[in-house]
Amino acid sequence: MAVLPIITAPDPRLKLACEPVARVDDSVRKLMDDMLETMYLAPGIGLAAPQVGVAKRVLVVDVAREGEERTPIRMANPEVLSVSDEMATYEEGCLSVPDHYADVERPARARIRYLDYQGEIREQEFDGLAATCIQHEIDHLNGVLFIDHISALKRGIILRKLTKARRLSAAVEA
Ligand code: NI
Repeated sequence: MAVLPIITAPDPRLKLACEPVARVDDSVRKLMDDMLETMYLAPGIGLAAPQVGVAKRVLVVDVAREGEERTPIRMANPEVLSVSDEMATYEEGCLSVPDHYADVERPARARIRYLDYQGEIREQEFDGLAATCIQHEIDHLNGVLFIDHISALKRGIILRKLTKARRLSAAVEA
């Protein structure tokens, strides 16, 4: 397994709609494993392939708390089959939007169809933090970030700060 570099906003690669995988083969399994290793190290609870520069519909999630046994979920070509009318609000962050957090309202439960690590079709209903996290990651596959769910004013402030932070770190590294 390998740790991959994580792309941060604003970057045009985070705004792309990703392509489905033809099948879950060894290269997709390696991508899933590398993404999990990258996510655990960051640390984060979810990561989507475009965040490591791969425009494919692949994501990984693990919402186990620190100290609990790991419960990794690996998905290819996830589709939202249905969502609850009931909504839930979580304070979200993103490894591609470092150091910024905002409340985002999403459906509290979501039924997802996806290909698992073996390439088998699975359907599963998620709730709680897992439902929010998986919807956040599926958004990434469609070029949508959590800051696209908040006001344009707040989004603009965050993006300007990220651009400024990147310029500063480039200056320090130069
Ligand atoms: Ni994210």
